[in-house]
Amino acid sequence: MTIATYTEKYRPQFHFTPAAHWMNDPNGMVYFEGEYHLFYQYYPGGTTWGPMHWGHAVSRDLIHWEHLPVALEPDENGFIFSGSAVVDWNDRSGFFSGGAGLVAIFTHHKTYPDSEKTKQCQSIAYSKDKGRTWIKYEGNPVLTEEQIVDFRDPKVFWHEKSKQWVMVLAAGDHIRFYSSFNLKEWVFTGEFGAAEGSHDGVWECPDLFELPVNGQTEQKKWVLIVSIGDNSACPEGSRTQYFVGDFNGRTFTNENTADTVLWVDHGRDNYAGVSWSDIPNSDGRRLLMGWMSNWKYANMTPTETWRSAMTIPRVLSLHTDEAGIRLKQQPVQELQSLRQAKLFQEEIPLASEQPISTNMTAYQLEIKVEFEIGDAEQLGLKLNASAEEATLVGYDTRTQSLFIDRTKSGKSDFHPQFACKHEASLQPENGRIQMQLFVDWSSVEVFANDGKVVMSDLIFPVSSNGFLEVFAAGGAARIVSLEVYELSSIHASSEMLAANESL
Ligand code: FRU
Repeated sequence: MTIATYTEKYRPQFHFTPAAHWMNDPNGMVYFEGEYHLFYQYYPGGTTWGPMHWGHAVSRDLIHWEHLPVALEPDENGFIFSGSAVVDWNDRSGFFSGGAGLVAIFTHHKTYPDSEKTKQCQSIAYSKDKGRTWIKYEGNPVLTEEQIVDFRDPKVFWHEKSKQWVMVLAAGDHIRFYSSFNLKEWVFTGEFGAAEGSHDGVWECPDLFELPVNGQTEQKKWVLIVSIGDNSACPEGSRTQYFVGDFNGRTFTNENTADTVLWVDHGRDNYAGVSWSDIPNSDGRRLLMGWMSNWKYANMTPTETWRSAMTIPRVLSLHTDEAGIRLKQQPVQELQSLRQAKLFQEEIPLASEQPISTNMTAYQLEIKVEFEIGDAEQLGLKLNASAEEATLVGYDTRTQSLFIDRTKSGKSDFHPQFACKHEASLQPENGRIQMQLFVDWSSVEVFANDGKVVMSDLIFPVSSNGFLEVFAAGGAARIVSLEVYELSSIHASSEMLAANESL
């Protein structure tokens, strides 16, 4: 086995990346027999989007990944676009001689010869060897539709109440629902959304699942996730919204008004995220991972041998706030296994305009910080701070908003809209703002006030020896506590693993 070094400039050290070449959406995320599977939109022929395959990796802890051979390659029905995978526990498909196995449900995308016209339909494939090899079903495609051009990204789950499989599918400007008893024959049951939520871009990559509200299993709500594609008129580019409501086995109803728009992530770089299937009940978490890029500039980001990373995996939950039931995200606790050297300080007074350096370089860190906002206008952290550049993650008390300012974060000339500052509304709690950050060599993910507001952004620092600083502006604030961990690389251990294997 060749051992990749993973030391290229901007190579994330604790996020999933393909060893080489282009990656976009996470696909087919499923847990089976002790392994988390991650498939992904992959073009093995280059570092920009091209004929789509499903790349594949597995992990036992959601953090360290083993790369496996390409799972699905394009065929006569076209490229292999996004989709999902499930464990067919009771062999309802008939593929597994009465046992259990994996079934992938994905979009086949084809361009008609000599025309620009495309056709998208849904197909399936199955694996009898824990995802190592896949057989495409001879009856593919299993779901076609002549009228709708954008007809893709099936997410399938077993709906216990109606004892059937449900497929949630993006159909241009709305979501369609289908049901099946065997994963091969699908019946249309309903649709949702043509006049609800944001329609700034084409609807893609849906997901649908039920979650307890405020941790109480007596009250549950359904969450429908819908990614929306880039639109040149919107500076935000591609992003992901969600709806909260009910699902009766046939269709979804929104409990908010049609014009309510809720964002999964207020950063620019978390797209096409969906959740893992078949997490055991004993674990019970709903785990989400997204593609950490944006269609506005995904093909232009300044990396060389590979392009794109996934976000860290997050746990989703629902809580009630003044406006209603809302989604919360928290980093998976498994990430704590990467914590190394630690800095812990309490009670740091922040005087206006006097940033304090922690003397820690800020490229591979987890940071937990709680601020008392005092009478400052702004307060926060400067990442990779040097004379030339810094990424600001802060809170503006005047607008009551959390912000990331990447206007001077480093390399940004690859797209005119990359350098930007963006914000999201966030209320202080008891005069305090709390943040947990994950900083890698080309990204920052911020979970504020227990994950009520999340922002994920790419950054491309030019320097590699900037420091972590804390600051207040326009008044004084106070840091109640600051905890900083260097995080170990996930690649070191996979190299060791490979070295051990070759002994
Ligand atoms: C979302 C998406 C999907 C599609 C895939 C193609 O990023 O556009 O809708 O299946 O990427 O790679």
